[in-house]
Amino acid sequence: MRSNEFTELLKSRYSVRDFRPDPIPEQTLAEILDDARYAPSWSNTRGYTLAVASGAQLERLRGAYVAEFDAALGMYRRKPTAFVKAALTGRLPDGDFKTWGRYPDDLRPRSVKVGVGLYQHLGIERGDRDGRDAWNRRNCEFFGAPTVIWVFAHGGLLPFSAQDAGLMMQTLMLSATAHQVGSCALGVLATWRRLIDAEFDIARPYKLLTGLALGYPSEAAVNQFRADHPPVALARSRTTS
Ligand SMILES: Cc1cc2nc3c(=O)[nH]c(=O)nc-3n(C[C@H](O)[C@H](O)[C@H](O)COP(=O)(O)O)c2cc1C
Repeated sequence: MRSNEFTELLKSRYSVRDFRPDPIPEQTLAEILDDARYAPSWSNTRGYTLAVASGAQLERLRGAYVAEFDAALGMYRRKPTAFVKAALTGRLPDGDFKTWGRYPDDLRPRSVKVGVGLYQHLGIERGDRDGRDAWNRRNCEFFGAPTVIWVFAHGGLLPFSAQDAGLMMQTLMLSATAHQVGSCALGVLATWRRLIDAEFDIARPYKLLTGLALGYPSEAAVNQFRADHPPVALARSRTTS
């Protein structure tokens, strides 16, 4: 493979936010998962595990996530009583990591920029709360993906196990791209742990980092959206040579 072909492959990956229902053939999914093994890893520990769901099991998870999202809507809207109600009904988010905290001041503008760009692309106006909620709900429907992977990292080797999981995820997503399979990481799925625990036996040291949707992109306009990719930040050298 020539270096420009690799760059083309990199550039053709983007976050797919609407999938056709067509299942990924078993063989194709197996090849993508097998490619993921070639990711480098901290002392080759590979401190991550994946829960791969499709078919009836994924439909149960989709239903469970949507129900949980609907129950959490008040919390998303920061209604003070919503947290009390969620606590009393046992529906507080129970993710291993907090997914909804405020971003550091220097990183927040980047997140705002992609969020504003996406909402503009979707035609959702700034004050349109219902429109935003409906879109966020689509996240919990996994954008209609036929396969979703939940990614866990070993809690005893953080942050390196999470770093390794990220390297593996990019390897997996690039393999998916090469197989004409679209992908979108879904960090929002890490908000709730109990939903995935109900379907998979995940050893307790493993902490839920994110979800990852896989499938074939639809023709929906959202799939024309592209985030910008500014150059990787380089530290200024303290010396001249
Ligand atoms: C760990 C992780 C979690 C993400 N979670 C979400 C998510 O919950 N919903 C979403 O629409 N996009 C999510 N994304 C996609 C990012 O917004 C996207 O990667 C970024 O804007 C760059 O765009 P690109 O993937 O199209 O290059 C996530 C990406 C990563 C790496």
